[in-house]
Amino acid sequence: MSVLPILELPHPMLRRRARKVRNIDKKVLEIAHNMVETMHDAGGIGLAANQIGILQRIIVVQMVDEEEARIYVNPEIIRRGGEREVEEGCLSIPGYRGMIQRSVWVRFGALDHTSVTVKLKAEGLLSQALEHEVDHLNGILYVDHLKSHDDLYKIEPEEMFEDSSAEDGDSAAEADEIDSDAVVGGDVESGEMKEQGGEGSAASLTVT
Ligand code: NI
Repeated sequence: MSVLPILELPHPMLRRRARKVRNIDKKVLEIAHNMVETMHDAGGIGLAANQIGILQRIIVVQMVDEEEARIYVNPEIIRRGGEREVEEGCLSIPGYRGMIQRSVWVRFGALDHTSVTVKLKAEGLLSQALEHEVDHLNGILYVDHLKSHDDLYKIEPEEMFEDSSAEDGDSAAEADEIDSDAVVGGDVESGEMKEQGGEGSAASLTVT
């Protein structure tokens, strides 16, 4: 496995639609495993193949309370419901975060790394991450969902993975007061980490 460079805005690959995978063969799995390693290295909770310059419909996602990354091929948001305001970031747009609307829940389908069809209902951070990653495969970035320029703000590099969702996020000074424990404050001790559940973590930050 290897860590690959993550493409950043305005790289054209981030704006292209990825193609459906026909066969989950060795090559596809190698890409997926490299994506997992790249995601771990960058400290993100998700990554789409476009972000490493590969136009195939592959995403990886791993919540902070999960031991193993989920590999999803040809993922689809089947249904979505509700609206909520969330803070979001993206490894391809370093140094920024924004407030956007995401669904409260999604019904999601994909093939897993063993070519088995997976269907789940996701809520919270997992739902947000799945919407974010499927967007990537369609050439869409979270900044496309911004309603106003004021909803996008610069952050210091060390704040990239801190959860400031409890704050207004109006200024860098406010962000300094954030308790970084909040990022891992989800369901760490719930003992559900091995299920392919759709619970996600309570935290609302996603950097993917
Ligand atoms: Ni992203």
